Amino acid sequence: MQGDRGRTGGPHPDRPGAGPAETWIDLRSDTLTRPTPAMYARIAAAPLGDDGLGHDPTAEALEEAGAALLGKEAALYLPSCTMANLVATLCQAGRQEQVVLEAQSHMYTAERGAATFTGTFPLGIAGTDGAMDLQRLADALWPGGSSLRTGLIGLETTHNNAGGTVPPLDHMRAVRTMALAAGIPVHLDGARLLNAAVHLGVPAAALAAEVDTVSLCLSKGLSAPMGALLAGPAVLVAEARRLRRMLGGTQRQVGIAAAAGLEALATMGDRLHEDHARASRLSAGLNGLGEMLSASIPQTNIVQVDLSRSRIDSAAWLGMLAARGVLARPLGPWKLRLVTHRHIDDGAVEAAIRAFGSCLEPG
Ligand SMILES: Cc1ncc(COP(=O)(O)O)c(C=O)c1O
Repeated sequence: MQGDRGRTGGPHPDRPGAGPAETWIDLRSDTLTRPTPAMYARIAAAPLGDDGLGHDPTAEALEEAGAALLGKEAALYLPSCTMANLVATLCQAGRQEQVVLEAQSHMYTAERGAATFTGTFPLGIAGTDGAMDLQRLADALWPGGSSLRTGLIGLETTHNNAGGTVPPLDHMRAVRTMALAAGIPVHLDGARLLNAAVHLGVPAAALAAEVDTVSLCLSKGLSAPMGALLAGPAVLVAEARRLRRMLGGTQRQVGIAAAAGLEALATMGDRLHEDHARASRLSAGLNGLGEMLSASIPQTNIVQVDLSRSRIDSAAWLGMLAARGVLARPLGPWKLRLVTHRHIDDGAVEAAIRAFGSCLEPG
């Protein structure tokens, strides 16, 4: 089992071409987090059934715990957050209906290909820090504007592409009010919902209360190996269960994975503030290196680094950083994304800042 810090020497397991390093500081994503020892113990002890035959006690327990945490009548366990968002769309938006999303949201930028299956039309609305422009939303919902009826509005928090930002609760309420007036349901892509709740200092249910359905990813900062929840009204979740089977997302002894999810819900939300604090320290350290780099001030665990003033593009930066044992992800040619998570401790943050600094030294 990999150690809790998750940093190992030698060639990187996922990036053989990256070359050896004494310790890897892997800032590519919080999805890299490995299960905790308590998760492994819970997996070994999990009572199992056959979810395809309608009963896996551990999956049921996870779904009950998820519904309680999110303050919804029911929840469904799915293999991924992408599938949770897809099923939410299928349940609520009909074919030939429009799904209105913030233009940089994950459901728009990374998942809108699902429209080829759902028959819906994804419409991207420009936003600021992940919050849709409300006037543009009003224009999009105006029935005289298009022959397409809007079937669903999608929100996202924390907002991945905006840099882990948390659109204010008031924004969510404003969208909700407009949606209610138009009779349109709202889905929240809450892949990192608990990070948002920690940032706002409110229970996750307070955010979920502003929407009809909500997804929550267990495999990101919460450290479970896989899976996501979709929560909402019981009638809708029953329909989601039927659609999950249709998509091939129903699994048998799924309690193996759900057990880790149960442990994640019970214990991992309480430590997310550590990831947020380390992201802030990382950002401050990078901004302290001079004018070549400009790091976003994070609200949660994602830092975006603008490289343009260094005149070195993201591909070259990735290579220089990998040679120093640091892994990041590009966001286009002039930006990097750095994500803090359970395997990034204070020492790793300081070492990452030093690695960036050393890349800037005249060679
Ligand atoms: C905001 C957001 N939604 C959905 C997803 C998809 O999650 P999954 O990889 O579990 O399908 C991601 C993954 O990065 C995400 O960041």
